[in-house]
Amino acid sequence: MRLALIGYGNISTTLLTQLGGQIGGQLDAVSVLVRPDATATAQARLDRDAVDLTTERTVCTDLKGLMSARPDLVVECAGHTAVQAFVPDVLRAGTDVVLVSIGALADSALHDRLLDAARKGGARLILPAGAVGGIDLLAALGPAGDLKVSYRGIKPPTAWAGTPAADTLNLETLDHAAVFFTGTARQAASAFPRNANVAATLALAGAGFEATRVELIADPQAPGNIHEYKVSSPLARYSMRIENLPSPGNSRTSVATVYSVLREIRNRIGPVAI
Ligand SMILES: NC(=O)c1ccc[n+]([C@@H]2O[C@H](COP(=O)([O-])OP(=O)(O)OC[C@H]3O[C@@H](n4cnc5c(N)ncnc54)[C@H](O)[C@@H]3O)[C@@H](O)[C@H]2O)c1
Repeated sequence: MRLALIGYGNISTTLLTQLGGQIGGQLDAVSVLVRPDATATAQARLDRDAVDLTTERTVCTDLKGLMSARPDLVVECAGHTAVQAFVPDVLRAGTDVVLVSIGALADSALHDRLLDAARKGGARLILPAGAVGGIDLLAALGPAGDLKVSYRGIKPPTAWAGTPAADTLNLETLDHAAVFFTGTARQAASAFPRNANVAATLALAGAGFEATRVELIADPQAPGNIHEYKVSSPLARYSMRIENLPSPGNSRTSVATVYSVLREIRNRIGPVAI
């Protein structure tokens, strides 16, 4: 498989270093799209991170460079602006994309653009479960209708620094769990775009952005990034609580997200997809 990554931050770096152990020797090429000012260091990093993966390792800065590497699969790990700038064209060219920045799909115009591009290109937009689990059951139950989904995102107070939570809470001195947001997944994604991925994943898999209820909580006792959700449907009821370890390179990103992307890549290569 020829693999391309958009963005070379925390997720891409961990992904490359973990790939060898999971699919060793099965990559024919790897390319990474970086910002123009990052090219000087990116090639040396890629040569180091992907040394055991393949000898064909390229860095590019634009869509033309990305597509000239002839990827079979593109994994976006960069953010909303990169989704807008590159992903529609990649899909329109017929190449499947694993989209990690799922929160970007709360922008309904961008969501429609991506679906239209995928249809025109005959490509698939693949949305990994990311930091949560149980997405398979949620997506399966959706078509039966009457789905109720409520999600609680719980993080230590400092993890909410720089968000509107700081307008209503003193995050430095908070000594109890405090709910600072209650609303729809659409409202959560718009007010907390850097923490929108899980709410957006649940909304897209299940009841949609308007019907998925969200509570966001700062809790000094939280052992990490915690995601809790409850699903009620005429066919099944279940609840999940996931305590995630933050990535060393970006405390907002759970390491489990990287492993979820690795699973998508493994499932494209191996004889069994699970
Ligand atoms: N689906 C999930 O559950 C989930 C969980 C965690 C993070 N994410 C998302 O994954 C994405 C990456 O996370 P991360 O921890 O690697 O972040 P990061 O900030 O460590 O890395 C992102 C990298 O992308 C680069 N980048 C941004 N825009 C670019 C562009 N236009 N062109 C080229 N490079 C660009 C940045 O310079 C940076 O190096 C974020 O959007 C994050 O919200 C999703």
